[in-house]
Amino acid sequence: MLDDATAATLRARAREATAHAYVPYSRFPVGAALLTEDGTIVSGANIENASFGLTCCAERTAVFTAAAAGHRVVVAIAVTAPRVETVTPCGACRQVLNEFKPAATDMLLLLDGPTQEIVPLGSLLPRAFGPRDLDE
Ligand code: THU
Repeated sequence: MLDDATAATLRARAREATAHAYVPYSRFPVGAALLTEDGTIVSGANIENASFGLTCCAERTAVFTAAAAGHRVVVAIAVTAPRVETVTPCGACRQVLNEFKPAATDMLLLLDGPTQEIVPLGSLLPRAFGPRDLDE
């Protein structure tokens, strides 16, 4: 579970992160802020590329930044996109998020909007293929 104060902090950090979105092509900034199991908050924004397909979404920027710093468990992630009422992670990001979900609980996605909607990753990516499927 996530307390209200932490949810609000994650939303604020996600909103702040949109300031660093690099979106010259879509003009669609997205920000994300995740909470690791040790309480660290890591944020990210979408980073586009002239070769459009190489764009990295905000969620993946945040996850890869956290993973590169040694974090392996993401408890929750807030996502915001100021140009729309509610944003929901793309399919590629859902799969990347699945890699770092807690072993015993589901990762929580905090979707910014008029109210902050909190949904478990499993509801957006049912029957996901993950690290444990590679166990013999
Ligand atoms: N984008 C994200 O960063 N996260 C999402 O959840 C959806 C889409 C980005 C990718 C691209 O830079 C822009 O939004 C438009 O698709």
